[in-house]
Amino acid sequence: MPRKMATQLFEGKEHASLYQKYRLPPPDEILKLIFSYLEEKKGKPFGLAVDIGCGTGQSTRALAPHFERVVGTDISKAQIEEAKQASCTANTSYCVCPAEELPFEDGSVDLITAAAAAHWFNIEKFLKEANRILKPNGCMALYSYHAYMEVHYKDCSEMLTANFTEYYDSLTKYASKHTETVHSEYEEIFNAIPYPDKQRITKMVHKLRMPVADLMGLLQSFSMFQTFLQNDPEAAKQLLQKTEQRFLEIMGVSSNETIVEVWAKNFCVLACKSI
Ligand SMILES: C[S@@+](CC[C@H](N)C(=O)[O-])C[C@H]1O[C@@H](n2cnc3c(N)ncnc32)[C@H](O)[C@@H]1O
Repeated sequence: MPRKMATQLFEGKEHASLYQKYRLPPPDEILKLIFSYLEEKKGKPFGLAVDIGCGTGQSTRALAPHFERVVGTDISKAQIEEAKQASCTANTSYCVCPAEELPFEDGSVDLITAAAAAHWFNIEKFLKEANRILKPNGCMALYSYHAYMEVHYKDCSEMLTANFTEYYDSLTKYASKHTETVHSEYEEIFNAIPYPDKQRITKMVHKLRMPVADLMGLLQSFSMFQTFLQNDPEAAKQLLQKTEQRFLEIMGVSSNETIVEVWAKNFCVLACKSI
């Protein structure tokens, strides 16, 4: 099976539109953690925040009320086009560029974030570039969530979660090596950060209520599923249908508008640029 480059995985317009509709917003717990870390290390005012690998901008928009200026960047033109179409405040802008070559002045950025994105970067080059653009005492926050999630509904959570796991496991042959870094909760990325002031926080559970239909949208947005879809569209659609039917069967309901609670395990690496 021909493998796509990591950077090509998010280029499809339909994939970008799935992102816009179904990707998880950043958890409040992580946002609070980031803002209090930045306040402690660098202090206010919060000038410029750059959200790298911003996709369709969910993670960028969450920063806007807290900074004078926010820029979302992504290597995928399709993702940035979707981000620009969503409503955003006047202090937010977007640009297409790689994480390893960022169009910002030396020492100009207060905060760098990457939500569910750092594992796709060339980490060595990204960290050099981050070091160049961060202000002294500027911070970075690289966070993500495990793709293995729990699905809760009445007394059938165990079976629903098993169905989710079965779906995910059947896609692992389409996984990119980049997703392995997610399974280790960014341990390698944490170790590669050259600053002494750094921390890695794990096991933060983010609980989100959503209809089964939205859960199915989230499952379709996984890069592994998109690779499967390109390689074998019929089999991919069947897998999706089978997974949805099984969810509804287990729950004993017929409508995919029925609400379930999805539990995602999050982790976050925080680091502060030494002066
Ligand atoms: C899983 S998505 C996360 C999007 C968004 N931050 C979110 O929370 O939903 C990963 C994003 O990283 C981008 N990406 C991958 N490699 C990149 C690179 N080298 N430089 C910049 N962006 C990159 C992809 O195009 C994709 O939009």
